[in-house]
Amino acid sequence: MTASPLKKFNDGNEIPQLGYGVWQVENEVAEKVVEQALDAGFRHVDTAQIYGNEEGVGAALAHSSVSEDDVFVTTKVWNDQQEFEKAQASFEVSMKKLGLSKPLDLLLIHWAKPVQDTYLEAWKALINLQKQGKVRSIGVSNFPEEQLREIIAETGVTPAIHQIELHPYFNQHALREVHKELGILTEAWSPLGQGGDILNDPVVVEIAQAHEATPAQVVIAWHLALGNVVIPKSVTPERIKENFAALDIKLTDDEVEKISALTKNDGRIGPDPKDCDF
Ligand SMILES: NC(=O)c1ccc[n+]([C@@H]2O[C@H](COP(=O)([O-])OP(=O)(O)OC[C@H]3O[C@@H](n4cnc5c(N)ncnc54)[C@H](OP(=O)(O)O)[C@@H]3O)[C@@H](O)[C@H]2O)c1
Repeated sequence: MTASPLKKFNDGNEIPQLGYGVWQVENEVAEKVVEQALDAGFRHVDTAQIYGNEEGVGAALAHSSVSEDDVFVTTKVWNDQQEFEKAQASFEVSMKKLGLSKPLDLLLIHWAKPVQDTYLEAWKALINLQKQGKVRSIGVSNFPEEQLREIIAETGVTPAIHQIELHPYFNQHALREVHKELGILTEAWSPLGQGGDILNDPVVVEIAQAHEATPAQVVIAWHLALGNVVIPKSVTPERIKENFAALDIKLTDDEVEKISALTKNDGRIGPDPKDCDF
């Protein structure tokens, strides 16, 4: 079985480039599907406090024949837990739910939520958790460029990774360039555009036919070619296997460019991080 390539963080740690996301997966279902993902070859699971399935993810890790030491686990601090003490306390709750007997691999601030103005405190809390050895790597999600630069300037600590909405209809070229400049890995959420129109796009479908692959596999291969860390979600056993098998598909530069050119000004599916008010 092909193993996912690893990407190196600016702190020296490594993350499997292809991971498995569990947003909108019920806690009871999470245990079953994470075990299926591990069986398919995934060694990286992306959850969050707000997903309500950290226990299910932890149960899968506890029961799997794959050692937890071989699985990269990410969770995220929710928006109402960003104050310095709260963020650290909420991390301890997450760890209890996950039941890990190792430090967490990656902790992210889920949204900057500029209007609340506690993201800098939250970043300091994550820095503190990393200093204590409770978390191996720290990063952010859904930060506008301004707030991303601000937390670095204020603390001198650069996030290892930035998890952002990114798919062929919203390719985030400008922010990816900022990440390159700052030495931050880019992680794509909703990488398949939530299973929407992108999977029927004629350009993607044609490239898929050329590779005897599925459109979802081609979209995942596009992310891998761009260097994104990518975390497709599926609760369907065949799709879980199919998504992992995308590692075997190598697109040409021309194919990568054709897919990148599908981006649209209004291609965003989720909220704009600048306006986050939840
Ligand atoms: N940081 C953030 O704010 C944030 C926001 C959103 C997501 N995320 C993370 O990113 C992960 C992925 O994003 P996402 O869940 O929004 O969407 P996604 O991975 O882009 O798409 C998931 C959808 O695509 C379908 N799908 C999966 N594989 C497929 C395949 N091979 N062929 C056809 N359809 C397929 C799934 O259906 P079935 O499940 O029914 O198979 C599901 O409906 C999340 O699970 C979460 O970990 C983070």
